[in-house]
Amino acid sequence: MIRSQTAQRFGWVAIVPLVLTVALSISFAASPTSQPHHGDQVSRDGPLSLEDHMEQMQSSLRELKRQIIDPRKNMESANIVAEMLVHAAQAKQMRPPKEREFASDKRQAFVMGFRKKMNGLCASLVQLEASLLDDDNIQAQKHLAKVLDYRFKGHRQYKQE
Ligand code: HEM
Repeated sequence: MIRSQTAQRFGWVAIVPLVLTVALSISFAASPTSQPHHGDQVSRDGPLSLEDHMEQMQSSLRELKRQIIDPRKNMESANIVAEMLVHAAQAKQMRPPKEREFASDKRQAFVMGFRKKMNGLCASLVQLEASLLDDDNIQAQKHLAKVLDYRFKGHRQYKQE
């Protein structure tokens, strides 16, 4: 009885530090290798991913759609478009993850196609901004439709399912 109690106590004395050591080594091993993931708050401080740039454009677009017909807000709308351009210009220099679906000899053509499509988006955004600066809200809506068309076709061709 006395011997088994001692064994039990000794067991705990041995197990508690062992568990602590294992837990600590797991947390130390995890911290230096853990990378920021898409959507993490930390990605705001580091370079944005392609998806981050796209998400930023999306939230600007939502704001823009609400006010594009309001001539009193044209300067503000033009600034929203200018922000979208910054993200589009960064995004176009990146490589869409879908490239991995292609054999290596086809990849460059795929990435080049993405770049050209994104360039087209940038051109439409410049025209959209110009219409807003000219206070031409009818024309601005036409350019917005073009931007939406780029998004639709760009995603159909370059985004993974
Ligand atoms: C204003 C126009 C655009 C907006 C607002 C936009 C928005 C978005 C959003 C919100 C996502 C992430 C969520 C999702 O999977 O749907 C995304 C992903 C993506 N978009 Fe766009 N997009 C636009 C234009 C384009 C164009 C023109 C292209 C291609 C030329 C394109 C290619 C992609 C790709 C490849 C992804 C996947 C990124 C990844 O998984 O890392 N987007 N976009």
